[in-house]
Amino acid sequence: MATYSILITPGDGIGPEVMEEALKALARIQQRFGHEFQYDEETIGGAAIDKYGVAMRPEAVSKAKASRAVLFGAVGGPKWDDPKALVRPEDAILGMRKQLGLFANLRPVRVHPLMLGDSTLKPEVLEGTDMLVIRELTGGLYFGVPKRRWESASGRQAVDTLRYSEREVVRILHVAFQLAQGRRKKVTSVDKANVLRTGQMWREIAKEVAAQYPDVETEHMLVDACAMALLRRPASFDVIVTENMFGDILTDEAAMLAGSMGMMPSASLGKRTKGGTGIGLYEPIHGSAPDIAGQGKANPLAMILSAAMMLRLSLGLEAEAAALEGAVDSAIRDGYRTPDIASPGATVVDTRKMGDIVAERV
Ligand code: IPM
Ligand code: MG
Repeated sequence: MATYSILITPGDGIGPEVMEEALKALARIQQRFGHEFQYDEETIGGAAIDKYGVAMRPEAVSKAKASRAVLFGAVGGPKWDDPKALVRPEDAILGMRKQLGLFANLRPVRVHPLMLGDSTLKPEVLEGTDMLVIRELTGGLYFGVPKRRWESASGRQAVDTLRYSEREVVRILHVAFQLAQGRRKKVTSVDKANVLRTGQMWREIAKEVAAQYPDVETEHMLVDACAMALLRRPASFDVIVTENMFGDILTDEAAMLAGSMGMMPSASLGKRTKGGTGIGLYEPIHGSAPDIAGQGKANPLAMILSAAMMLRLSLGLEAEAAALEGAVDSAIRDGYRTPDIASPGATVVDTRKMGDIVAERV
């Protein structure tokens, strides 16, 4: 029996609820395929601020490094939202990404054919939408220094720094082109080259890297134009690659193509081994949703689909990943919906029930 160590960090809000359902589905995978998943757990985010005074203990990173993957719930909530607070729940996810060197964030956006009617966009615009957004995750405005606030004679001042090195831009672009080769062979590189120096460098490097992949079609877009095109012609995108903050914003927008953030998994990856696997962090992109926490309303599918990405990308278990995705697909086909994706005629189920339905279909 193959054993795999996994660190789970349920976090805050709906994090623990959706995590429970993902673990339920993974338990079925263990049974069916004869693997053993060895879980370690760590309190992070607001819960860790309450318990330890910090959003993430250094132990969390060492536990993560001793594991094949981190399955991450969500962090944050109104309780820890004071803008003056010195520690924030978000420090946990940012610290984990940075300290594990997880520079490539993969956010697939697929519109399920049976859920075309659940988006606020017209079905005919959405039809065929199947894209992969690759967000640079450890550089840019999130991490650049100086980053600080201060008081001056004329009032409050603040600065964040948008900085990228050639190395950071080159490596994320290679990830995009390589993944595009396994898909529809199109890369849209998104920048703000008409205004920002980082954007100009990004585009220059994107052209150089693109030249190394003659089989892949490349398109360069300004981020504002891309925001518009995502709504106008979403199905025309295959792989989108962009810097950290643009990727953050565009992926929330893209999530709405799929009807709900509750359907959107993600993988954050660092350096890969020759076999293509390597440590990764897997999280739903929806966040902690404190407004619905504890009510059984959360959609666990994004968390379950994140676990599937973990099986594929960190554990190298392709058949198992496909089995999990197939189980989600079958639950949707049979009309089961959590409230966030419920359209007229659907069978509305709560978080647990959706988890049960998926687990029994694995
Ligand atoms: C995301 C989230 C995070 C981010 C927050 C929670 C720090 O919005 O993963 O997209 O901005 O990266
Ligand atoms: Mg975000």
